[in-house]
Amino acid sequence: MLARPVIADAEYDRLMKRLQDLEAEHPDLVTPDSPTRRVGETLTEGFAAVRHRVPMMSLSNSYSEDEVREFDARVRKLSERDELEYTVELKIDGVAVSLRYEDGLFTLGATRGDGSQGDDVTANLRTLRSLPLRLQGPAAGGSLEARGEVYMARPAFEAYNRAREAAGEKPILNPRNGTAGSLKLLDPREVARRPLDYFVYGLVDPGRHGVKAQMDALARMRDAGLRVNPHASLARGVEEVLELCRKWETGRLKLEYDTDGLVIKVNELRLHDVLGATAKSPRWGLAYKFASLSATTRLLDVVFQVGRMGHVTPVAVLEPVELLGTTISRATLHNFEEVARKDLRVGDWVEIEKGGEVIPQVMRAIEEKRTGKERPIRPPRKCPSCSSELVRDEGEVALRCENPACPMQLRRRLEHFGSRAAMDIAGLGSSTVDALANAELVEDVGDLYKLKPESVQELEGFAEKSAAALVTGIQASCSRPWARVLFALGAPHVGFSTAELLAEAFPSWDALLEASVDELSAVGGIGPVVAEEVHHFVRQARQGRVVEKLRKAGVTLSGPARVRKSNVLEGKTVVLTGTLPHLTRDRASEIIKAHGGTVSGSVSKKTGFVVAGEAAGSKLDKALELKVKLLDEAGLLDLLGESL
Ligand code: IVH
Repeated sequence: MLARPVIADAEYDRLMKRLQDLEAEHPDLVTPDSPTRRVGETLTEGFAAVRHRVPMMSLSNSYSEDEVREFDARVRKLSERDELEYTVELKIDGVAVSLRYEDGLFTLGATRGDGSQGDDVTANLRTLRSLPLRLQGPAAGGSLEARGEVYMARPAFEAYNRAREAAGEKPILNPRNGTAGSLKLLDPREVARRPLDYFVYGLVDPGRHGVKAQMDALARMRDAGLRVNPHASLARGVEEVLELCRKWETGRLKLEYDTDGLVIKVNELRLHDVLGATAKSPRWGLAYKFASLSATTRLLDVVFQVGRMGHVTPVAVLEPVELLGTTISRATLHNFEEVARKDLRVGDWVEIEKGGEVIPQVMRAIEEKRTGKERPIRPPRKCPSCSSELVRDEGEVALRCENPACPMQLRRRLEHFGSRAAMDIAGLGSSTVDALANAELVEDVGDLYKLKPESVQELEGFAEKSAAALVTGIQASCSRPWARVLFALGAPHVGFSTAELLAEAFPSWDALLEASVDELSAVGGIGPVVAEEVHHFVRQARQGRVVEKLRKAGVTLSGPARVRKSNVLEGKTVVLTGTLPHLTRDRASEIIKAHGGTVSGSVSKKTGFVVAGEAAGSKLDKALELKVKLLDEAGLLDLLGESL
């Protein structure tokens, strides 16, 4: 059931080697479900054809809420019911397979093929570590046929592509193509290297298993040890179905695997027989397809953005295009190596895609549409903001502007300093930052505290009241705890949790300033690279001047890393999963710690609570499995007497 392996790869390899040695010594002890049998030694000589006992059909597609309502009306009429229960499952974007178990053992795996006949890919499917070679639980020893989808998770796909590129091989276009290609390989040893996984969603001949509802079929397969997607829900009536459609339209972006829609199925399996099928698809189910995540548009120009550390990033300026309800006119190009790898040129038609991140990505140039007039994109030599020569650090792909007074860097530093997770200064958004920097009212973040309402009032867009509010907001930030101030200063590689670790170990700026590299890297969670960077950062004269200004203004530069508010969570470990409606992960962790709790990344029997948000994944499954207490955001805030 778990998406994450329970043991590290190296440990798996060590245990496998031991088992292989033992089996070589005692061949009589080798069982057909031994993990050593996963990867055969021989090449498959083409694939034998398999006739499906029950045809593998496909579902009809729908693209709108109206079509879902029509489907509901149709099946209610045919089954003579006023209201029906449906399962709503994720439509995994992979390759359909049929898995047959006989006497409890995995005997046959086949692709869909033309629906009535597919390829025997048993040897390849045996290499999927999460596919049980022997069924467990009540199904052990029995026969069963399941239908499911083989897929590649995004992070594994990306890691695999990086490895391919490092070995000089062409990257795979997308996880779906990668999966289809992998299943067609004739060498199971090569398939074993591909990061494939699967979910089952259908039980063939459920009546034989005494199962009466789709939800129970899923549970039965899960009990047998097969991977079942944890996000299947039961919906009573079409309105609940549509609510789930709306939730997953964007919720899917947070999943680690691709889904191209939802599958809506009548839950009561007896009705599947009543409803029957058309020539192509069953009447009891419908695929609801999500709006496309990709679009094509023109790459009009490439501009160069300067980050707060001086890193220069190429950004694509696009002909505005609609994607998932927003108009997109810019997309990050990450770095110049990426631009070269994708061979992007100004004037190209490009495919853009919204992935798990909010910022869209440029996936590829559509070469067939080239006219020859496209211009190559060359990395700049000079900073687009201050014109200083750019440098490229050894071993790094990014170009960097080294000028500490670079105006664009200053803006980015001010934005970071005022952001919610840092000093949380209301009103210090990007337009205010621009106005302050243009008027040369601030040279660094320390100058913010010298601002007077009279001078702010002179700026465009400000009036007496808004100017006073900004200054009050800045002054209020003086009392933020020490860890936040340290984070706000923006040392390289120091994210919020690293700042907390450092602030805890070094309870003041002065203590941090005195720390040696060894003392810094002795702090749990701080590696040697970060230790070096922090050591260098705090010693910079510029940083010293900023901190003196903050000290004069009364900003907290010492004291507990965070404010202790209660002991409600004393001794308790809390795990956060999914996206909470209001709190960022950093903010939620801060609140938990302020009440004595510890935040951990993995769920175990000892976990006190799991706080789950939208699109929570395997951690939520684990919590349910181990019966760990669950809370949502409101529940957490209630428990701690906090408000938003
Ligand atoms: S039920 C009669 N459930 O989507 C077919 N299909 O046309 C019943 N798929 O290629 C399919 N996730 O392989 C079902 N949870 C799910 C699914 C799912 C992915 C695929 C399936 C088929 C296509 C539906």
